[in-house]
Amino acid sequence: MRKPIIAGNWKLNKTVEEATELVEDIKVKIMDLDKNQMPTVIVSPVFTALKSIADILEHGQGIHLGAQNCYWQDSGAFTGEVSVPMLKDICVTYVIIGHSERRQYFGETDENINLKAKAILNHGLIPIICCGETLEQRESGQTDNVVKNQIIADLKDLTEEQTAKSVIAYEPVWAIGTGKTCESSEANRVIKLIRDTVAEVSGRDAADKIRILYGGSVKPSTIEEQMSQSDIDGALVGGASLKAEDFAQLIKGTMLVRAPK
Ligand code: 13P
Repeated sequence: MRKPIIAGNWKLNKTVEEATELVEDIKVKIMDLDKNQMPTVIVSPVFTALKSIADILEHGQGIHLGAQNCYWQDSGAFTGEVSVPMLKDICVTYVIIGHSERRQYFGETDENINLKAKAILNHGLIPIICCGETLEQRESGQTDNVVKNQIIADLKDLTEEQTAKSVIAYEPVWAIGTGKTCESSEANRVIKLIRDTVAEVSGRDAADKIRILYGGSVKPSTIEEQMSQSDIDGALVGGASLKAEDFAQLIKGTMLVRAPK
């Protein structure tokens, strides 16, 4: 059985002090939960807060550290970038890549995302590869093609083992930060399509192992229905991950329907 994931993407929010307060708060709220039953929990603060949060999480609280981006070269003349070995150095284990905000505002392409995925996996970290259609693409019936093409390009030349270890997040752009959650059955349909695409590219075994999350206005009131779907393995959460109580509720809601056996 695939272990579920609840991942917070804090985006461009929180000073170091605010970020450490939030993670301390989350720790207290999930303190009494059975760690064996908990989903994989990930928080992804801004770069400047990563080290302070890594220090707080040092003693293994069942919370993993994620970064929101990386560069694919290890070092060199690439002003403003942060490399995977640098993230590894401060105990980051997951890296979100290809988020629609990066595709839209920073010109990130599927070729870039593929290079980043390879660098992340080659250094032993796990990429969370985001994909999803815009409202315009959905309304013109292009959803399936857009998402399929993104996944084929993003996973290009990864080994089966690397693909199996990776995480994909299906985030319809029109559902991000809008309060308009994608119907759970429709999210499940697209996620199934993504899994079948992974099977075509990397084989059924990798497709059965890869964890595929839904993202887009996930909140405590939607999580149980989302996690009851056959192919949704968890959530990548923006707004609700900035409130300790809501984030803890997402973890608890996931445990109610999908506690790992
Ligand atoms: P919201 O949960 O705020 O809609 O954001 C989703 C997202 O972009 C997570 O990466």
